[in-house]
Amino acid sequence: MTTLIINIKELIQIENVPKYIVKGADMKILPTIKNAYLLIENDLIKDFGTMSNVPNITSQITIDASGGSILPAWCDSHTHIVYAGNREQEFVDRINGLTYEEIAANGGGILNSSKVLIQTSEEDLFDQSSHRIEEVMKLGTGAIEIKSGYGLNKEGELKMLRVIKKLKQKYPITIKVTFLAAHALPIEFKDKKSDYIDYVIQEILPIVKKEKLADYIDVFCETGYFNVEDTHKILQAGKKAGLQGKIHVNQFTAIGGVEVGVKNKALSVDHLEIMNSDDIKILKNSKTMPVALPSCSYFLGIPYTPARKIIDAGLPLALATDYNPGSTPSGNMNFVISTACIKMKMTPEEAINAATINGAYAMGLEKTHGSICIGKKANFIITKVIPSYNFIPYSFGNHQIDQVFINGLRV
Ligand code: NIG
Ligand code: FE
Repeated sequence: MTTLIINIKELIQIENVPKYIVKGADMKILPTIKNAYLLIENDLIKDFGTMSNVPNITSQITIDASGGSILPAWCDSHTHIVYAGNREQEFVDRINGLTYEEIAANGGGILNSSKVLIQTSEEDLFDQSSHRIEEVMKLGTGAIEIKSGYGLNKEGELKMLRVIKKLKQKYPITIKVTFLAAHALPIEFKDKKSDYIDYVIQEILPIVKKEKLADYIDVFCETGYFNVEDTHKILQAGKKAGLQGKIHVNQFTAIGGVEVGVKNKALSVDHLEIMNSDDIKILKNSKTMPVALPSCSYFLGIPYTPARKIIDAGLPLALATDYNPGSTPSGNMNFVISTACIKMKMTPEEAINAATINGAYAMGLEKTHGSICIGKKANFIITKVIPSYNFIPYSFGNHQIDQVFINGLRV
């Protein structure tokens, strides 16, 4: 099927020669063409150009964008969208003065979500997660990474991973799966952390591998959770099982997570709210993508990832939501872009690059997603009529989406 979209005010994030990653000063460059057309064949981008060169073909569907602009659908490279219940009580507890860490130390936090997940049937978990997938697709997300990590035992983790597999089968959005092997220490393993790590590596990981349930492996490398040695051990085991690392580091403390991630050739190191200058140096000699999660900083009231330091050092940066019940109950990439501009002083060009092409890279999808490029997936947003793309982050708390297309079809 051929779809021709005409009268596009501005076609944003075009690539003639695919570049796959955008770094440093180049992040300020957002290639566009004005007064454009876009041609789609089935699920792929077939062609694009200016209206003066619009092809004289009979397309099955013609859409008049009527002055709306088009940009690639968001690539959200870090979420925990499969979860059960919510943690609204902890939200209120934090307003009343408890910290995220204190709530976790009292048996709340990840352990709270784990308890609810274990009591929730696979069908119910699928239904709850489906609502969130449908919600984020409407908000313009065309590719997403989803982690396990609330199971904390074999049964729970496999339940989560099978739900993700079913979401992949049901929805057109591209889904990459991460086995979050070590998220928190379950109560049964209190004071027996190394036994738990052995259990995860020996009892769960082989099934994840055999049933091909995941693409990546993750660890929450943080004070009070899993240290650098634990992280190294799990990343090594993951590598043997064919899973590259994508890890949680430097959310509350810098304990060497960036270094262990880079040493293990992690695809991404995510959070980075607390960074030291060594972390930046270490990232410079790597292919590891730093990923910032500004909605998490917003919701928890913790520092924002120092985007300026990272980008000004010549590094790339990706932006993602971290959608999860505890630290970020929001999957809205439009809000992420705004917050990155407002709180992290990223320019709109940098934020859009970080949320499209660099987000795609952080999921291993850079060859198929993240830009308007011939041969890439026809995943894109048609905006309302807006003065320029600056208006997308400017209108914070709102979105400028008129229509979303995933795999060439309107959502
Ligand atoms: O990325 N930091 C670890 N994991 C999640 C939050 C988990 C939770 O509180 O449920 C995060 O913020
Ligand atoms: Fe996370």
